[in-house]
Amino acid sequence: MQKMDSYSTLTRCLIILASLASVALCTNPPRPVDVPFSRNYVPTWAYDHIKYFNGGSEVQLHLDNNTGTGFQSKGSYLFGHFSMNIKMVPGDSAGTVTAFYLSSQNSEHDEIDFEFLGNRTGQPYILQTNVFTGGKGDKEQRIYLWFDPTLKYHRYSILWNLYQIVLLVDNIPIRVFKNSKDLGVKFPFNQPMKMYNSLWNADDWATRGGLEKTDWSKAPFIAQYKGFHIDGCEASVEAKFCATQGKRWWDQPQFQDLDASQWRWLRWVRRKYTIYNYCTDKTRYPQLPSECKRNRDI
Ligand SMILES: *[C@@H]1O[C@H](CO)[C@@H](O)[C@H](O)[C@H]1NC(C)=O
Ligand SMILES: *[C@@H]1O[C@H](CO)[C@@H](O)[C@H](O)[C@H]1NC(C)=O
Repeated sequence: MQKMDSYSTLTRCLIILASLASVALCTNPPRPVDVPFSRNYVPTWAYDHIKYFNGGSEVQLHLDNNTGTGFQSKGSYLFGHFSMNIKMVPGDSAGTVTAFYLSSQNSEHDEIDFEFLGNRTGQPYILQTNVFTGGKGDKEQRIYLWFDPTLKYHRYSILWNLYQIVLLVDNIPIRVFKNSKDLGVKFPFNQPMKMYNSLWNADDWATRGGLEKTDWSKAPFIAQYKGFHIDGCEASVEAKFCATQGKRWWDQPQFQDLDASQWRWLRWVRRKYTIYNYCTDKTRYPQLPSECKRNRDI
């Protein structure tokens, strides 16, 4: 397996070298998505609330009145592509939050969040996203999904490079945070992050702003996971840069901005599914936050 990988990489590099005479494009091909839990992850807390199936290619997180649970990546990363197939807690999930996020977890932390807010049976989930830079968040966006996320697995991904952060649902971009350093906006670039997944009770705020409480008679609440993909530039926690910066597939020009079709999909999400966008909240931000100028439709 190892041999074949390096051979194909070498071949790929030689082909690219021959055609373009460019060392910078000798990138490793993207890694496979459908890998087992233990390849990239370890439990974070409440180990007994994580259940493993099919040799660890599928796991469940259980939340009950005692505790939630979670797992985290073994490595820390500076840039890369991260995704997870998740089937959300079905039925009455009000009060629960299922999260998928990158975080550096230090005092001036960077973070990129997906938070799925549960609801009463038949009522829609909300997907809340946020980006923290240097310890500061306050950049919430909230959307409804165009499907019921409890019926089957859907793929949630984060692309993070020096140029942009893109959050995707089934490969459709639902949010982009462009690097707007030129406008004086901090961008996560020099603090490695770990990937975290968790399921917990947040009935003080999650569903209808905390009005709907978790119904513990429905416990355990179960979220399901598979496809534990991580393809990142692995770095020590203290690292300030990625040693292979510029040479990985996600650094290449086609990943430095959304293409025309992706911008159209993003516009579709904003028009049809957006509940809240801090960029358009004039009460909270009388002056448009600088990075929002990079959103083409605002
Ligand atoms: C938690 O739930 C179990 C089962 O429904 C119940 O027996 C127990 O009393 C509950 N504990 C607390 C602290 O609410
Ligand atoms: C839950 O359902 C209510 C009623 O349809 C809706 O207003 C709310 O946005 C939904 N989602 C959450 C997480 O509160």
